[in-house]
Amino acid sequence: MSVTTQAVQSFQHIDDARHRTLITALVQKLHDYINEVQLTEAEWMQAIQFLTQTGQLCHEQRQEYILLSDVLGISMLVDQINHQKSEVQTPSTVFGPFFIADMPVRNFADSIVIENAEQCRPLLIKGNIRNTQGEAIANAYIDVWQTADNGMYSGQDPEQQIDNLRGVFVSQADGAYAIKSILPVSYEIPSDGTVGQLLNYAKRTFWRPAHIHFKIVAEGYQPLVTHIFLENDEYLQNDAVFGVKDRLIVCHESKQADPQSQAVYGLDCDYDLMEYDFILSEA
Ligand code: BEZ
Ligand code: FE
Repeated sequence: MSVTTQAVQSFQHIDDARHRTLITALVQKLHDYINEVQLTEAEWMQAIQFLTQTGQLCHEQRQEYILLSDVLGISMLVDQINHQKSEVQTPSTVFGPFFIADMPVRNFADSIVIENAEQCRPLLIKGNIRNTQGEAIANAYIDVWQTADNGMYSGQDPEQQIDNLRGVFVSQADGAYAIKSILPVSYEIPSDGTVGQLLNYAKRTFWRPAHIHFKIVAEGYQPLVTHIFLENDEYLQNDAVFGVKDRLIVCHESKQADPQSQAVYGLDCDYDLMEYDFILSEA
């Protein structure tokens, strides 16, 4: 009996059928791959060292394995298999490694800019949370996070307060939400680890087009993890993690201060506006 057959069969006694499939198929495909490329011992050792170093880089604030999954296109493949069952719902995209749970709950139209707010032109992001029938979803929890102008997230950048450019908003009775922020910038994903070595070696880009992250959770609906991307960003066609979907690209308009934006959104100066409705699928 071949070593492949022996190794695959050695996992036949796992009780859980799904786990048995996952492990036996993985062992079979790894053996097929190694046979196909006729892996040398030196290459095997290099792969072991790469995976070891990747694991050693991981800690609570850094997940090099998620980053590896992202640049290999695996995160987006898993996303594609598990979401987008309907044409109507808002497309999901990659979660990324920079989400932080339990951020402050903020009020309608609050700003998530905690530092240097006075230096920046405000961006108003507003719209509605709706279901696939177009009905309003009240009390949806909208987690939002984005980088500062330096292209770094709080948690990644020791200079930023942890809740800078992050927060949780709750949709109103009519499904409306409004968030004050700043226009996002394109930025490079971390390049100082094993993923960086791999991308450099492959002469690949580190850039992600400018975007804002959202995670939206509402009772009775499937959670949605997505971004909105800024129209015309130079990296939209060449995202390092393959996360761009056309329906997530949003234009922004330049607006002048007016009494209504002052009264409803607390905006007392000129601002940029992005409007986007998020559509959730029933659970
Ligand atoms: C992000 O958009 O935050 C991100 C996604 C994947 C890899 C690195 C960063
Ligand atoms: Fe991001």
